[in-house]
Amino acid sequence: MKCQLCKKNAILKSPRLCEDHFIEYFERKIGKFIEKYHLKNKKLLIAISGGKDSVVVGYVLSKLQEKYNLSLEYFFIRLGIPFFTEKSEEIVKKVTQEIGYPLTIYDLKEEEGFVIPDIKYKPCSYCGMTRRYILNKYAYENKFDYVVMGHNLDDEVFFAFNNLFGKNISQIQRTGPLTETNFEKKLIGRVKPLYYLAEEEILLYAKLKNLPYIGCACPNSMESTQKKFKTKTEFTRDQKLNFIYSILEIKKFLPEETVEIKFCEKCGFPTTSNICKFCRTKEKILTGTLGKKMK
Ligand code: FES
Ligand code: ZN
Ligand code: ZN
Repeated sequence: MKCQLCKKNAILKSPRLCEDHFIEYFERKIGKFIEKYHLKNKKLLIAISGGKDSVVVGYVLSKLQEKYNLSLEYFFIRLGIPFFTEKSEEIVKKVTQEIGYPLTIYDLKEEEGFVIPDIKYKPCSYCGMTRRYILNKYAYENKFDYVVMGHNLDDEVFFAFNNLFGKNISQIQRTGPLTETNFEKKLIGRVKPLYYLAEEEILLYAKLKNLPYIGCACPNSMESTQKKFKTKTEFTRDQKLNFIYSILEIKKFLPEETVEIKFCEKCGFPTTSNICKFCRTKEKILTGTLGKKMK
């Protein structure tokens, strides 16, 4: 099987490219994303966890920094998960040192008084909410234009399917490669430069570039629905892309979400109730009452 652009051997079936042309294609796709979503000259906060996706997106953005005049900062949250957090931090430090960009480490215990293992009820979902809250808060306080997330095509396909299976049509509205920033509402938008790239392509890029990343999953996510979905469904890259393009088309016909945004009485960040979910959860974690009513 030969590369579609030269005579060398192809390393991937779709797109059928050799090593050099694959790297070129991969980086060009992220460059196109920057152009399409007007990220040129923007100040970006890169949420880096040490997983392959955030390492790859962080690395490629550092390569494209000059071309697009990006202002970059890397942000790692020390979640306090034994072994997993230490290992991830090691990798993140190594990567950011190599590419020479500033890294901010946010220590959950020091800043908020708890660690993820203190959450005994639905840890993954509360961990996700906590991370989103912290990223938005830090990005807002430090005037970033966007937070960069490492979500890839496979994550987005799963997210959309999961919401369709659960009849959560309104959640579909929230999906997409970019959400807008609204400084007045203290909401910093999120961008996903790997949105159109499949997991297989990201793994291949990391391998070819010899990028370190944490090989094991977070111990809390071992049995996640996403993992089961991924192992049970086989789609080609083109099918995944078509699916996600269809979802983006469908989105145009969905009504805009009209939720009234207030500001949390405790922390001042956006919420739909008087006290935001993060503040309510934090209080419950610190008093050991999270999930108690549900039993
Ligand atoms: Fe948050 Fe796994 S990384 S629970
Ligand atoms: Zn080639
Ligand atoms: Zn709050």
